[in-house]
Amino acid sequence: MKHKLIAFTLLLFTFCSSFGQSPDLPNDFLSKEWHKERRQKLRESMPANSVAIFFANAVRNRSNDVDYVYHQDPDFFYLTGYREPEAVLLIFKDNQTAANGTVYNEIIFVQERNAMREMWTGRRIGAEGTKNLLGFEQAFNGSQFKKYNVEFSKFSEILFYDFQNDVRDNPRDSTDLYSLIEQFKEKVNYPKKDNSLTVLKEQPKNNLNMRGLHSLMASLRGVKTTEEIELLRKAVMISCVGQVEVMKAIEPGMSEREIQGIHEYVFKKYQAEDLGYPSIVGGGHNGCILHYTDNYKPSLDNKELILMDLGAEFHGYTADITRTIPVNGKFSPEQKKIYELVLSAQEASMKACKPGVELSHLTVVSRDVVNKGLVELGIIKTETEKHLFFPHGVSHHIGLDVHDKGHRVLEPNMAITIEPGVYIPDNSATDPKWWGIAVRIEDDYLITKEGCELLSGYAPRTVADIEAMMKQPSPLQKFKLPELEPKKK
Ligand code: GLY
Ligand code: MN
Ligand code: MN
Repeated sequence: MKHKLIAFTLLLFTFCSSFGQSPDLPNDFLSKEWHKERRQKLRESMPANSVAIFFANAVRNRSNDVDYVYHQDPDFFYLTGYREPEAVLLIFKDNQTAANGTVYNEIIFVQERNAMREMWTGRRIGAEGTKNLLGFEQAFNGSQFKKYNVEFSKFSEILFYDFQNDVRDNPRDSTDLYSLIEQFKEKVNYPKKDNSLTVLKEQPKNNLNMRGLHSLMASLRGVKTTEEIELLRKAVMISCVGQVEVMKAIEPGMSEREIQGIHEYVFKKYQAEDLGYPSIVGGGHNGCILHYTDNYKPSLDNKELILMDLGAEFHGYTADITRTIPVNGKFSPEQKKIYELVLSAQEASMKACKPGVELSHLTVVSRDVVNKGLVELGIIKTETEKHLFFPHGVSHHIGLDVHDKGHRVLEPNMAITIEPGVYIPDNSATDPKWWGIAVRIEDDYLITKEGCELLSGYAPRTVADIEAMMKQPSPLQKFKLPELEPKKK
């Protein structure tokens, strides 16, 4: 009786979580037609008589039986829309004919449906769902990949990314990602390595091409389609609202973590699934640590700046925005001087930003402005002096990755950041009045035919606009939580 009940429950669960767009899912994901067109574009750019193979991202274990939240590999997502692990995609330049006469030019192997596993870890769409929801004609369970017998030696080139050997084997699952990779290696005669922890140092002298795919995918992903731009605009706008709400709510004595929480609450409120990267919230000298993610400081000081670099990821697309503001709502004279110098560097790079220009040129322009300004302020002695106050480039592509794939020369519909900064750590060899000042201003831009469009202007950037916004009331001023511990008398 008990078994019958379990079987019935599983059947019911399988039925309820069956195919068809679930009412629990957003209805503005990229369409199956969009992903299919991306595959066709890749196919058109592939060399003659070639096949390209992509693997889903691995599930990463956090500890014991807890895994990190799964995030699909951006190339895999771009080409398929598939959001689950344990899958492999093959895209062929030319039509292939299966033993049963079926003609096809792409095929995908995905994780099999399993009522019990789905009850514990969530819905799977399976091979049928991959056909119905994602528009694949040839979709099979991962267990079929082993005996899938296309003759790989006939291709002039087999394009794939070399393996990092960081995928765990689940010995109880012969269809996990580890097994799919091992089966693939077997099929293509992937060379055996002396040390299984190193990737191949040289390109093997056969038809395996582990270098070419990056450039093909950069050409595609670097130039955004209308649909992608719409999602990017949304991710950027959500991230700007986070900055605005913090400008209104921040008070001395708040913690870095609390500020991070306000941003991330806003992201979630607007249904952003994820963060594009770990949030950077650094008060005072913590802002000098470029990728500071500890966010531990329990109480922000009245006189310091806070540097906040956060990006919401919406349906896969991420913003990358930094604002630096005074915790007490008013920049000190020194903070204002550095802030306005960084802003003028950003404005200069923005003016230089147009099709045909190299990304690295934007760094040259910003660096020039910053170095001249630092000399004028007496912080460095000569414009060519090598110094650590501005140690990074100012621009990269954004998209499915925060540091997205894309070529170096700008074209219309590329999306990039411009993000100059000045960081003066405590005990630097300069007047102590500058110590602990760290300013980065980072905005997101869409390259247009003539120049670029600022996407993140909703979050104030000038000193006057930031100070005015910080005077606005915040709904969070009324949001009081109980003390966890009674105050000591
Ligand atoms: N948030 C990482 C970066 O600005 O590149
Ligand atoms: Mn950036
Ligand atoms: Mn950033």
